[in-house]
Amino acid sequence: MSKVKIGIIGSRFQADCIAHSVKMMPDEGEVIAVASPTRGQAAGFAQRHGIATSYTDYHELLRNREVELISITAPNRLHAQITIDAAKAGKHVVCEKPLCITLEEADAMIDACHKAGVLLLYAEELFFAPKYVKAKQMADEGAFGRVHLVKQGEKHSGPHSDWFWDVDQSGGGAVMDLGCHGIAFCWWFLGKPKVKSVYSHMTTQVHGDRTQGEDEAITIIEFDTGAIGVVENSWNRPGGMDDSIEVFGEKGQTYADMLMGNALPTYSEVGFGYAVEKAATTKGWTYPVFEEHWNYGFPQEMRHFARCVRGKEAPVSDGETGRVVQEVLYAAYASAGLGRKVTLPFRPKGVAKPIDLWKNPRP
Ligand SMILES: NC(=O)c1ccc[n+]([C@@H]2O[C@H](COP(=O)([O-])OP(=O)(O)OC[C@H]3O[C@@H](n4cnc5c(N)ncnc54)[C@H](O)[C@@H]3O)[C@@H](O)[C@H]2O)c1
Repeated sequence: MSKVKIGIIGSRFQADCIAHSVKMMPDEGEVIAVASPTRGQAAGFAQRHGIATSYTDYHELLRNREVELISITAPNRLHAQITIDAAKAGKHVVCEKPLCITLEEADAMIDACHKAGVLLLYAEELFFAPKYVKAKQMADEGAFGRVHLVKQGEKHSGPHSDWFWDVDQSGGGAVMDLGCHGIAFCWWFLGKPKVKSVYSHMTTQVHGDRTQGEDEAITIIEFDTGAIGVVENSWNRPGGMDDSIEVFGEKGQTYADMLMGNALPTYSEVGFGYAVEKAATTKGWTYPVFEEHWNYGFPQEMRHFARCVRGKEAPVSDGETGRVVQEVLYAAYASAGLGRKVTLPFRPKGVAKPIDLWKNPRP
C-alpha cells in the first residue's frame, strides 16, 4: 500500500518536529504539503523539509485531493475549527495536544470526524516514548505488583511563542500546556481507568507580568481503581526541558528521566550548537540529548497514525483520549479555584476556557 500523504497545518515549532519525525520513519507516511498564514513561512518550511506544496490558507491544503491526513500544529484555539473543516473535507486528523479549549469543542470535533468517517487521532507522544513504553511493559507484566502511584512531571522555563502566554489563545497556563501530557500519561499507564476525582494547586510564581496563567502546579488524580496519578508542571525551570516519570507498586518501582537521563553530561567552556529544548546555554555543564524526537516517541507516533489510516493498527490515542484529558483539565482548574477536590463526571456548560474555572470559581 502507498505511503499516507500528510499535510501539516502550522509551520513552526511542532510542525518542524512532525516533519522531521515523519522522515525518520518514512515507510508509512510522507509530508506532501504545509499551510501557515505568515507570508513566506510555509514556503520556507517546505523548502527546508523538501515538501512539494505550501499554502498560506489551510483551506487550500484541505482542497488538495492528494492529502489524506492532516497534522494540526496551530495554536490551541484553532484546533477545533481546523478539525471540523478537515473532517468535512474528508481528511483524517492528527491533532496536537491539548485537543482543544472547551469540552463542547471536543464533542463537536469527535462528532464531525465520526460523521465524516475519518479518524481523529490525538497526538500524545508519551504513549510512544521508548523509555515510558518500557516502564509500562514491565508494569503490565506485573514487575511492580499492583501499581498504586504514577507520577509524571514536565517542566521548563516557559513557552517559546507569545500565544501560549495569552490565556485567550491557549486556554490556560502550564497545566493546559504541559499537564495535558501528565494527565494522559497517568491514565494510559494505569490502563485507562475511570477518573474519580481531581485536586490541583495552581499558582503564578514568576511570570505574573507576562501571563494570567499558572506557571507552577501540582495535580492529583484519583482513579476508581484506587490508584493515584500525580502531575507536576512548571514554566519556571531554567536549564532545559525536564520530562520524567516515577512508578510505584507493592512489589517494586521504576524511574525514567526521558531527556537528562539519556543525555551526555558535558562540560564546555566555549559552548556548542544545541543541548536540549529550552536550554538557555551550552556553556559550562550541560546535558545534551541525542535523538531527541525519537526519545519523545514522535516518529513512532506518526508511523502508528499512518498505519491507523491504512487500517493496519487501531488507534491507541484518539479524540476520546483527548476528551478525557479535557475533562480532567476542567476539573483541575475548577479544583484550584474552589480549593477542594472535584469529582467526575465534571462537564460544566458554557465555560469559555478552562482557566476561567480557576479565576472565577463556580460554587
Ligand atoms: N506534543 C508536544 O509535545 C507539543 C510540543 C509543542 C507544541 N505542541 C502543540 O502544537 C501546537 C502548536 O504549537 P507550536 O509550539 O508549534 O507553536 P508555534 O507558535 O511554534 O507555531 C504555531 C504555528 O501555527 C501557525 N498558525 C497560526 N494561525 C494559523 C492558522 N490560522 N492556520 C494555520 N496555521 C496557523 C503559525 O503561523 C505557526 O506556524 C500547540 O497546540 C501546542 O500545544 C505540542
